Amino acid sequence: MGSKQVMYTLKIVTSLLLIFTIVFSTFGVKANAAEQDKNWDKIKERGVLRVGLSADYAPLEFESHKNGKREYAGIDIEIAKKIAKDNGLKLKIENMNFDSLLGALKTGKIDMIISGMTPTPDRKKEVDFSDSYLKSSQTMVVKKTDIDKYKSLKDFANKRIGAQKQTTQEQLAKTEIENADVQSMTRLPEVILSLKSNKIDGAIIEGPVAEAYLKQNPELGFAKVKFSEPDKDTCIAVAKDSPVFLDHLNTSIKNIKDQGLIEKYKDTAAQAMDEDGNFFTKYSSFFITGIKNTILISIVGVVLGAFFGALLALMKLSSFKPLKWLATIYIEFIRGTPLLVQVFLVFFGTTAALGLNISAMICGMIAMVVNCAAYIAEIIRAGINAVDKGQTEAARSLGLSYGQTMKTIILPQAIKNILPALGNEFVTVIKESSIVSVIGVSEIMFNAQVVQGASFDPFTPLLVAAILYFILTFVLSRVMYFFEGRMKVSD
Ligand code: ARG
Repeated sequence: MGSKQVMYTLKIVTSLLLIFTIVFSTFGVKANAAEQDKNWDKIKERGVLRVGLSADYAPLEFESHKNGKREYAGIDIEIAKKIAKDNGLKLKIENMNFDSLLGALKTGKIDMIISGMTPTPDRKKEVDFSDSYLKSSQTMVVKKTDIDKYKSLKDFANKRIGAQKQTTQEQLAKTEIENADVQSMTRLPEVILSLKSNKIDGAIIEGPVAEAYLKQNPELGFAKVKFSEPDKDTCIAVAKDSPVFLDHLNTSIKNIKDQGLIEKYKDTAAQAMDEDGNFFTKYSSFFITGIKNTILISIVGVVLGAFFGALLALMKLSSFKPLKWLATIYIEFIRGTPLLVQVFLVFFGTTAALGLNISAMICGMIAMVVNCAAYIAEIIRAGINAVDKGQTEAARSLGLSYGQTMKTIILPQAIKNILPALGNEFVTVIKESSIVSVIGVSEIMFNAQVVQGASFDPFTPLLVAAILYFILTFVLSRVMYFFEGRMKVSD
């Protein structure tokens, strides 16, 4: 490439980046609400209070499963119920990763966060907080056998410290421990698993939550160390400019405190935490829901993906240049970006950019279809191209039109190339669909994470998830071989 070309490419890239920045910053700018409270008006009108949380945080929020029925439980859940009741609203809980909550609140996916959240100066720039409803201490959890190794925080210098991503505990690990090798994980059970499997030396966890985990993991214990600022507030977060909404929240919180309800909520939470039954009687319903949804998402992804993929393939094969370019750009862009990013783009893009209020499930399906269409387009195109050119030439010289040739000569042969590849794509999609768990779609992986949180056992749920994925893909590929064999026979 000559230097002129390089400059030219650079120019294009910078202007593209510029356009992106402008587009995104315009979407980012929220209309400043006037004196009244638009957010509260919307909630009232809807009649539903949408609460975001990360249910990996017993006794504050977790999923319980009374008699096989799953339910959100915990102190935060009780508070949310009380707030909904006080205001004549229905409660809708959106369970997602802790580090997705602020984004979801800011883009209007949820109305408030109640997830053991501590107000920090950084967060206060983005959202507003209610009065505090709970104080919690900060602890360092280590393996019991290591407890005597650590006399003070200084002894953790240069050690591997785990914490949940984007929490104040992650911040503590960075600020209070000298030269710590901080390992942040999306969900709290991962932190526990890392500690148990010696991937980290200590984990910073809030007191009540740590106690809940310690009960189920007898090999863990508290290190006898103190953080400089031990007790932190826990508050509800709402979008900025929600004065009326905040007033209502603070009234409910005041009631709760005045009537000493928190203690009651703690008892309810403790009850929900210890139930009897073995792993399978307690959690099989989670995995069954997961399997159903994984299959549903994969089928929708592949079927609609095949439909749009066929369109794209035809566009790409067409001699009309703009169609061809459009299809090429789409396919290259989708295949050149991670599915994870696409999932988030759809999830936040539909609300932030398009102002739509679409459930996580539908967002997940859209993302899978968008993604599959690109891959399937290439499968179909390759299938068509693999049919010998001579076939087209022969058909055309016999006087068949392009359309006729395609329909009667090329496509029937192409199908034989396409179907096996489509089957492989289906297997891939089943596995890849696990990525939509990040936005809270209740498929296998998501449910495995929920069970991690509910059972305080970080490993078994993952094992079960792996086995389930394997069974699904294995059965599917056997079925495919069977049909492939039949197709060969029919040749
Ligand atoms: N209090 C900490 C914070 O605000 C951690 C909260 C984590 N909550 C959760 N549901 N996982 O950063």
